Amino acid sequence: MKKTLFSLLFFACLASVFAAEMPLISNVYGRDYVLLNGKWNYIIDPLENGYYDYRLQPFKDNGFFENKKPATPSDLVEYDLDTAPIMDIPSDWNTKDARLFFYEGTVWFKRDFTLQKQAGKRYAIYFGAANYDAKVWVNGKKVGEHIGGYTPFNFDVTDVVKDGANFVVVKVDNKRQRDGVPTVNMDWWNYGGITRDVMLVALPETTIEDYFIQLPKGKFDVISGWVKINKSAANQQVTVEIPELKIKQNLKTDETGRAAFEIKAKPILWSPENPKLYDVNIISENEKISDKIGFRTIETVGKEIRLNGKKVFLRGISIHEEAPFRQGRACTKEDARTLLNWAKELGCNYVRLAHYPHNEFMVRSAEEMGFMVWSEIPVYWTISWGNEATYQNAENQLHDMIYRDKNRCAVVIWSIANETPHSDARDLFLGKLAKYARTQDNTRLISMAMEVASAKGNVNELNDNMNEYVDVASFNQYVGWYRGTNEDARNFVWNIPYNKPVIVSEFGGGALYGLHGDKTERWTEEYQEELYIRNLEMLDKIDGLAGLSPWILVDFYSPRRALTGIQDYFNRKGLVSSSGNKKKAFFVLQKFYNDKK
Ligand code: GCU
Repeated sequence: MKKTLFSLLFFACLASVFAAEMPLISNVYGRDYVLLNGKWNYIIDPLENGYYDYRLQPFKDNGFFENKKPATPSDLVEYDLDTAPIMDIPSDWNTKDARLFFYEGTVWFKRDFTLQKQAGKRYAIYFGAANYDAKVWVNGKKVGEHIGGYTPFNFDVTDVVKDGANFVVVKVDNKRQRDGVPTVNMDWWNYGGITRDVMLVALPETTIEDYFIQLPKGKFDVISGWVKINKSAANQQVTVEIPELKIKQNLKTDETGRAAFEIKAKPILWSPENPKLYDVNIISENEKISDKIGFRTIETVGKEIRLNGKKVFLRGISIHEEAPFRQGRACTKEDARTLLNWAKELGCNYVRLAHYPHNEFMVRSAEEMGFMVWSEIPVYWTISWGNEATYQNAENQLHDMIYRDKNRCAVVIWSIANETPHSDARDLFLGKLAKYARTQDNTRLISMAMEVASAKGNVNELNDNMNEYVDVASFNQYVGWYRGTNEDARNFVWNIPYNKPVIVSEFGGGALYGLHGDKTERWTEEYQEELYIRNLEMLDKIDGLAGLSPWILVDFYSPRRALTGIQDYFNRKGLVSSSGNKKKAFFVLQKFYNDKK
C-alpha cells in the first residue's frame, strides 16, 4: 500500500512539474485566443529579493509569485503587486521608466484575468518573447520558464486556471550572461521585459499541432505539405483547403497523428513584385485554423540565387527591431510597416532582420509588402563555443525561429551567426548548428554573416571554414569606417573563392543627421554619402554578387556608442535618423537599387 501511495505521489509531482510542457503553438494568431496585453503591475527587484531568501535559497512560497496579502493587520508582507506601478505590455522596460533605461536585472510583472472555462478545452499562456530569462506562475503555481530574448514560448495552464478571477506573475531577468546567446557584448540595447504579445489560448483536447504547406523544392506545379495533430492517433480526419485554387484535400492521419499530401496546382507564385498570398484552411474534426501562405521556391545555382527559378538580386537593408520615432523594442504591426515602408522607399526587395528573430508582425508584413527576409539567431561575436548548454540554447532558438516561421514564404535565408571569431570550437559549434538547421527545414538557404576585416595589399579575401556549410557566402566589411578610407575603396578588389552566391551582409558608416561638412570629415552626412558611393562602386564588381544589406536602415540605441553630441548612445549608421529623417546616403543607395531593378 505504502509503495503504491508513494509512486502515485511521485508521478503526481512529476506530472505537475511537466504538465506545463507543450509544443510551441503554431500560427497562434490563427487560434482561439484573448490578448493579455495592456496594464501589468511591475516591481523592480535588482537583488531578486522576490525569488531568493536571504540565504540565496529560492522561495518555495513567500516569493513575489504568490502575490500574497497580509492575513491580519500585523502580518509582514513587504510587497504588493496589486498596488505596484503599471506598465503597458508588450514593451521594453528601458523606455517606459526612466529608472530602468540602463537597468539589467529582474522586474516582476503581474496581470489579473478572468476566464469562463469551456469543457473539452485546454488553456495555454503564450509569450511572443520576453528578454532574457523568464519564469511564469499562474495563480501562484509555477507553469514554466524560458531562456532566450527573441523567440516565442507557451505553457499549458489548464490545470491551474480556474473559472472567474486568475492572475499571472512573470519574473523577467535581462542580465547578460557570458554563456548566453547572445553573450555579454553586443552592439544593440539590451531591452528587457515582456517585449511581445501575451495571449491566453484555448485549444481543443485534440488540436492541430503543426503543419507545413509549400511548393516542393524546384517544382512550381505541385503543392505539398503535412499536417500533424497533437495525438499519436491514426485515421483522424484532417482537411487542407485552398479555396482560390479549388483545392480540398481530405486526409487521414497515420499512427503518429501526421498526414501528408501532394497535389497538382498552378498557384500564382509569390514574389516581391507580386506578393500573392492564398487563404489556406486547415480543418480537423473539432478545429479550423486559417493562414495566408505564399507559394515560391528559393534555390542557388552556382553563383546565382534563384527565386521561382529566375536569377534575383537581393536589394536589401539591415534592420534592428528598434521602434521608429519612440525608440525601444519594436513590437507592433505599425512599427513593422513604418520600417518596411522606408525599405520600400529605398527600392528594397529584401531585408536582413538583425541580429535575432524579429516579432511575427515584421515577418508577416514583409510577406504582404513583398520583401524576401534573412532571419537570424543571436549567435553573435564571442559566444562560449565550448559550452554544451550554450550550444543547446542556440539550437533551441534556431528550432523556435524555424518552427514559428516555416510557413512564411518571405523567409528565404536562415542565418546561424554574425561575425564570429575563427576557432576549431566555433567551427564545430556552427557546423553542428548548420546541419541542425537543415534537419528542421531543407527548403531554404542557410547562411551566416562572416567577416572580412583585413586585406593583403588591395586584395580582400573571404576565407572562412564555414563556407562548406552555407548556401550563400555572406560577409560584413567596413572599408571607409573601421578599415581604410573611402579613397581606398577605389582600389580594393575582392576575392570570394567559393562557387556560391555572395551577399555583403553589412557595410556602412555613421553620420549625425543635419551635420554637414567636407566629405572627408567623419560623422558628416557627406562622409557617409561618399562612403556609400565608393563602397557600392567597389562591391558591385564582386563576381557572384547576389545581394546587399547595408548597415543599417535606422539609427538605433547601443551602449557601445557614447560619443557625446554625436552618438549619445545611438549607433548612427542609419540611413534614416532616429527622428525619421533621411540622410544623404539614403538617396545614394536608393539610386543604386533603382538602377538594379
Ligand atoms: C558589426 C555588427 C553590427 C554592428 C556594426 C557596427 O558588423 O555586425 O551588429 O552594429 O558592425 O559596428 O555598427
